[in-house]
Amino acid sequence: MARTDPHSYFDDSQPRTRHLGLELEVDFEEHRLEGWAMLDLGEPSEGPLDLDTKDLEIYSVEGEGGEPIPFDRGEEEPILGKRLRIHLPEGTRRVTIEYVTSPEAIGLQWLDPAQTEGKRHPFVFTHFQPIHARTCMPCQDSPRARVVYRAAITVPSDLTAVMSAGSAGKGPGDRPGTTTYLFDMPHAIPTYLIALAVGNLDSRALSPRSRVWAEPETVEAAEHEFAGIEDMITRAEELFGPYEWDRYDMLVLPPSFPYGGMENPRLTFLTPTLLAGDRSLVDVVAHELAHSWTGNLVTNASVDHFWLNEGATVWAERRIVEALHGQDAAALGWAIGEKALQAEFKRFGADAAVTRLRNDLKGTDPDDVFSSIPYEKGARFMALLERTAGRERFDAFIRSYIERFRFTSITTEEFMNFVNQELPGAADQVGAQEWLYEPGMPKNAPVFRSPQLEALDNLADGFADGERPTAAQIESWSPAEMLVYLQRLPRPLDEEACRWLDKNLELTERGNYEILVEWLTIAAASDYEPVFERVREVLLRVGRMKYLRPLYKALGATPRTRALAREVYAAASPGYHELSRRVSEAVMDKYDA
Ligand code: BES
Ligand code: ZN
Repeated sequence: MARTDPHSYFDDSQPRTRHLGLELEVDFEEHRLEGWAMLDLGEPSEGPLDLDTKDLEIYSVEGEGGEPIPFDRGEEEPILGKRLRIHLPEGTRRVTIEYVTSPEAIGLQWLDPAQTEGKRHPFVFTHFQPIHARTCMPCQDSPRARVVYRAAITVPSDLTAVMSAGSAGKGPGDRPGTTTYLFDMPHAIPTYLIALAVGNLDSRALSPRSRVWAEPETVEAAEHEFAGIEDMITRAEELFGPYEWDRYDMLVLPPSFPYGGMENPRLTFLTPTLLAGDRSLVDVVAHELAHSWTGNLVTNASVDHFWLNEGATVWAERRIVEALHGQDAAALGWAIGEKALQAEFKRFGADAAVTRLRNDLKGTDPDDVFSSIPYEKGARFMALLERTAGRERFDAFIRSYIERFRFTSITTEEFMNFVNQELPGAADQVGAQEWLYEPGMPKNAPVFRSPQLEALDNLADGFADGERPTAAQIESWSPAEMLVYLQRLPRPLDEEACRWLDKNLELTERGNYEILVEWLTIAAASDYEPVFERVREVLLRVGRMKYLRPLYKALGATPRTRALAREVYAAASPGYHELSRRVSEAVMDKYDA
């Protein structure tokens, strides 16, 4: 064969890295990781070995005895980066590459003490999905090329290092004032699941197999928020089979973390915006936990099959929510997802190519087309298969799917072959061809309703004619119900309506970011001045892209909100992750159009 992934130089006719060893020192002054990557090929090999790198400076490549091994570099390509071709002499089993990362590496975010909760120590974290591992280590950076890894990470002694791996102890580093943390990941994972964070970290045990890591200032809030994790893992195991990764730990990052969560194996990364105080946002944890089966055990073969990761996981997340909190709670999740889906069809156009589940993203930067479509359209496709096959058969199907493909990375077509084998006729019955290969939403998309949803719909429909929820209704709402209600309100609203909502729903001071941001989006789009300070505060603190996009977009409403957006962005953007900057700028670029 040859290259199998449009976003990697990985060539499956070449030797494979089976084991990756990392020995890196974390330099907070220079914002660099420096050290070695050792690639074990598992057997004596020879010939070219093509690796992905981006913004890496390569010092040397050596064989097992320290002898130099010849290599050359390809041209710098804007999305892929630079190929590193190593010319393996006959019999090579292992190569050691000495290198240093760039301060601009997109896979790393370096935070000043001021950007942390404690304000006294710096922080750094990685985010590699989908193609950023190559900015931190030379590797075959395609999900088909799974590796086990070990790492020795040297950090200033007042900080703690954690990774998506088992802890294998620690000891003094070579230089005084440093500590070296050892890690061992014995399960074969795609490189995008390698993860590292270093900062002033503390932790609390939540169950024999789970603990939460956070800065000391937030660790107790985190302990309280995620106390139910063992119950969630147990429910998930009942649905999808045994949890295979030994521990399920979580890390709460500083607020600039650009995502809600990232399913790094053994150590889910989470945004601190989940710390609402009332456990109302743990569906994100259900999602990242569900990836332990869909995504981490069975992985998409490339970004073109991303829906296999996310669509299946959103479906699984809602099954976990249903198992824990019942059908009505799950229906609210589907309704919130439906809103996100509609917004994306509006953003891209209903028949844009990226609205297909099976994609063809060669030449496209995957971060530029990241959207809720593979999530929500993918989840609806799974739910339709479930309804068609019947729940009992489909649950058995999912378990045998995971069993059959565990620790492998597969394409949409491999998935469908398995569907055809296990659920004969189902693909035709649901019109799988259209779902997978055509843009837009098929007409037979499953609909999720509940009496609660009907009531919220009707109530919101009447808003323009003056209908308002009663105090008793508001009192009875769960946070998810309040969110659904807000999402259904018309916008812009007049000042009177904004004032009424804020007063009666107590919105501006909410600690639940989903509700808060939905409200601020309504209010900003309505040019409602009393919230401007709060908008500024949120945009200065939080880098989660899911919130930046709607907020900056809503601020496009009037000249003064646009001025506010530009002023806040100038102050906030140095603290944003590069991905967050890109998203915000893309939205603000449209202000003048
Ligand atoms: N794996 C994703 C995050 C991701 C995907 C990052 C692709 C970069 C590229 C993670 O599991 C995720 O989907 N997070 C969501 C939360 C979820 C509840 C939908 C998020 O960050 O909002
Ligand atoms: Zn996900």
